[in-house]
Amino acid sequence: MNRYVLLISLVVVLPNLTSSGQTGSTDASALFQSKCGICHTVGKGRLVGPDLAGVNDRRPEEWLLKFIHSSQAMVKSGDPDAVALFEEFNKTIMPDPGISDTEIKTILQYIAENSGASGGATAYESVLADAGSEEVEHGRKLYNGNIAFANGGPSCIACHNGLSGTYFSEKSYAKDLGASFSTLGEQGVKGILENPPFPVMARAFLNKPLLPEETRALLAFLQQADPQQAAKAAVKPGSGFMLYGLLGAASLILVFSALWYSRKSKSVNHAIYKRQIRSIN
Ligand code: HEC
Ligand code: HEC
Repeated sequence: MNRYVLLISLVVVLPNLTSSGQTGSTDASALFQSKCGICHTVGKGRLVGPDLAGVNDRRPEEWLLKFIHSSQAMVKSGDPDAVALFEEFNKTIMPDPGISDTEIKTILQYIAENSGASGGATAYESVLADAGSEEVEHGRKLYNGNIAFANGGPSCIACHNGLSGTYFSEKSYAKDLGASFSTLGEQGVKGILENPPFPVMARAFLNKPLLPEETRALLAFLQQADPQQAAKAAVKPGSGFMLYGLLGAASLILVFSALWYSRKSKSVNHAIYKRQIRSIN
């Protein structure tokens, strides 16, 4: 009997021992990617959270351990650096990763080792380069639930505020997304849609991922709904639209010059002037 207990505990404990005892670089990289990579890069720019390159030099290790363990506990305790970061990142909550101090140290070591090597960074390429007003409209309908998601995920309006051009505007369950595109960037929002890092949203889209074209349409809509982005004239009219615009402008110029021409050839003032002269004489 005892032998079985020993055997079972060996089977259960051994794999755990080997996996947590090993701090090989592939393990550290996988750990970082799965727990932090949705929101952070090391030397490849800001995503949802700051670029972590060089963070070991910026912050004492003790602070890092506490912050990564529970950033919100630190914000609530009033730690000035944590509060400043939280404000800077538009009050985006970094969730507690639920990992041990040893794992956090493994991740910190991985960050330190990769902080200098940003040379391999590949620049993010926008998927919205040729997105037009149809994409924005499609995104608006997906967002509001006028069109269902192919894999059955809930519409965004179920949790988020209605955005410009929609009928809903009262305070809703989750954050208003009106400024998300500016604060998170296209890459940040895309990452969230493909792999939501927020537990409630993640659960809602579990096994119901968005299709790439749905993500693209939502991105186009969110970009357009962001006043700061709209000011940059983000929505490029299609070529047809452009052509009609040019034709319209050309015909208006013709009409106005014709009007101008006839106005000049039959000057009202001149007629009155002539009549006046005649009546005086
Ligand atoms: C859901 C997105 C998200 C995830 C996942 C996430 N973080 Fe963060 N992280 C943030 C945000 C946002 C901030 C900025 C501070 C804030 O808003 O609270 C931040 C800040 C930090 C900071 C402070 C950086 C500085 O410049 O001082 C460190 C360190 C950090 N995160 C490490 C981690 C590590 C390590 C993991 C994985 C175990 C992780 N984060 C997972 C979003 C995230
Ligand atoms: C089940 C509820 C739920 C649904 C459905 C949902 N979200 Fe979220 N979303 C959340 C929660 C919770 C957060 C975390 C921020 C907060 O607490 O409000 C969030 C955060 C976000 C953020 C980050 C906001 C920021 O500026 O930090 C984006 C972007 C976002 N959601 C987009 C969407 C889009 C687009 C859809 C539709 C495809 C969607 N969400 C559907 C609950 C939801």
